[in-house]
Amino acid sequence: MPLANLFGSKGRLVLCALLICAVIFELAYCQKDAQEQRTNPGRKTKPSIPKLVRSTKKGPRAVTAKPKIKDTPAAPAQTFLTQVLNRGKFKKVGDTLSVQTGDTLQLRCRGKPVQWSVPTYLEEDDDGRLRIVQHERYGILTLVNTTGADTGEYSCYSMYCEDTDCRKEYDKAIKVFVFFPDPQELFVPSSDYYEVIQLRTNWPTLLPCQVTSPGAKVSLHREYPPVDVAVDGTEISFNVKKGFTIHRPRPYHAGALFCVASLGNLRQSSTKYMLIYVNYPMAPPAPVIQASLSSVTVGENLRVSCSVLGEQDVAVEFTWEYPGLQIGRPLYTQDSISSVGGGAARQQCQSILLVDEVRDVDQGTYTCTAQNLQGAKSVSTTVKVVPKAKPKKP
Ligand SMILES: *[C@@H]1O[C@H](CO)[C@@H](O)[C@H](O)[C@H]1NC(C)=O
Repeated sequence: MPLANLFGSKGRLVLCALLICAVIFELAYCQKDAQEQRTNPGRKTKPSIPKLVRSTKKGPRAVTAKPKIKDTPAAPAQTFLTQVLNRGKFKKVGDTLSVQTGDTLQLRCRGKPVQWSVPTYLEEDDDGRLRIVQHERYGILTLVNTTGADTGEYSCYSMYCEDTDCRKEYDKAIKVFVFFPDPQELFVPSSDYYEVIQLRTNWPTLLPCQVTSPGAKVSLHREYPPVDVAVDGTEISFNVKKGFTIHRPRPYHAGALFCVASLGNLRQSSTKYMLIYVNYPMAPPAPVIQASLSSVTVGENLRVSCSVLGEQDVAVEFTWEYPGLQIGRPLYTQDSISSVGGGAARQQCQSILLVDEVRDVDQGTYTCTAQNLQGAKSVSTTVKVVPKAKPKKP
């Protein structure tokens, strides 16, 4: 959600359905906090979305550097990913790989040069266990003293270089999901006691309880009332490389849920997931703008209205831009929501920009931007200001 846009935008910010927005913003902040906490160094945290390994001051991770590479505008090299077992032994990797915790993971990717992506926390907690070296025809990633927390997706992309420009070929990335089965930790550890997750209408939602061992049996549970959640593979499905996905969230999915993994005699619970249901719009808003007058005389009052007809309980924010904005002309707005009759629950959100005693500077374009969680749309209208009629000469 582009919060920065909302608060940093020009003109006035008007919240339609203020309460709903406030709740959503809370959530967004909660989630952000949660994410930031997770990436704190120290306790090994959950690798979520893999990020690109960027060049750092610390030498060998800077793989975008092109050592020993001739600037040949050659066709992109084919990329192959192999696991380096021990001196001189290679094994082509499939979809997944299991490496015993404590062991060293070494991957070799053919290409000149290649770029790697690793689980997010590994990139952020640079504790010296990860080493990336580019050789002439391949790159090597080495991760030592591994733990269950290193479980996640590792991939390499080849770089296509022409002269000094190199372009990443993401679409040709070769990925391998690496498990580091940890005899003590069935779940990839998280530093958070719980995680807040938004359930958006018809938007697949992931409960990222990631196991460290592909052999673990994982089930989903509701805390209150304490029941097992049915995982039918359609409404809710499980993927050992991701966790549980709720495919089309409905309000009844909300609540506190957690995963339980069992393997051998070990049985462990994951972090708690607080699922909060949010009415999510199907589409960006379609605002309609209208000025009370298209030509207004100095001294008269002007009203410009912007309205959006949309789904019930979906928050819409309005932002205005108007000619007097640059000189700080203080205009104000009135906003309202009203229900619209009919079958489907609809509502009309409206923001009215009020210009009292129009001046010359008020002539020009009035733009209203309406935004909901799906996007924003702007509409404009122009207003002409005409001077007061001169009193007739006697
Ligand atoms: C790996 O673990 C060994 C033994 O605990 C330690 O001596 C070494 O410094 C560690 N290496 C890194 C890069 O953390």
